[in-house]
Amino acid sequence: MKRIVILISGRGSNLQAIVRRCAAERWPAQVVAVIASRPDAAGLAFATAEGIATAVVDARAHAERAGFDTALAAAIDGWRPDLVVLAGFMRILAAELVQRYAGRMLNMHPSLLPAFPGLHTHRQALAAGCTVAGATVHFVTAALDHGPIVLQGVVPVRPDDDEATLAARVLPLEHRLYPLAVRWAVHDRLRIEGLRVVQLDASPQWFGPADGA
Ligand code: GRF
Repeated sequence: MKRIVILISGRGSNLQAIVRRCAAERWPAQVVAVIASRPDAAGLAFATAEGIATAVVDARAHAERAGFDTALAAAIDGWRPDLVVLAGFMRILAAELVQRYAGRMLNMHPSLLPAFPGLHTHRQALAAGCTVAGATVHFVTAALDHGPIVLQGVVPVRPDDDEATLAARVLPLEHRLYPLAVRWAVHDRLRIEGLRVVQLDASPQWFGPADGA
């Protein structure tokens, strides 16, 4: 069984999607812990209800960045994860931690990377006049929201969209993409070659509107 640790900062809807698919599809994996960077992260209640261990490493409780980094690394390492999954985790990870979990840490970013990394991605996409938007699952590297891309999905941007309507269209896509990417990782179906990820079954590594996205 692969041991998965999921990191959250808020709602935890991607966390829920992954936990549900893991159970429904009987992956050879277990979400052993959910670690939140905020004590009020709503996703913690879901984890507890599912019987998953939880921990909070409160970013605001650490005056020094180094103290948070050390506490977070200790919390993650303590669970000896095979895979670390960032699901709406709003803190930048220390380079040393990222390096240690290279090839074993995934992130979801709600844009078509490498476009629009960082915060307010939907606002950025709208401001740029994009006619499509999407979401990306990638392996985490030291560069924020950048790393070998595992899976992407595309949705249309409509002329009357605002940040909220676009986010609401992208979120269900995230919930389809992320469990699939984690499932591939659990089954060792992903090989990193430079900045590229090869899916060993050669399954398509993108979803478009024609796929019901
Ligand atoms: C998602 O849009 C995720 O891609 C982004 O933050 C949001 C988190 O949503 N990084 P949730 O906590 O998974 O519901």
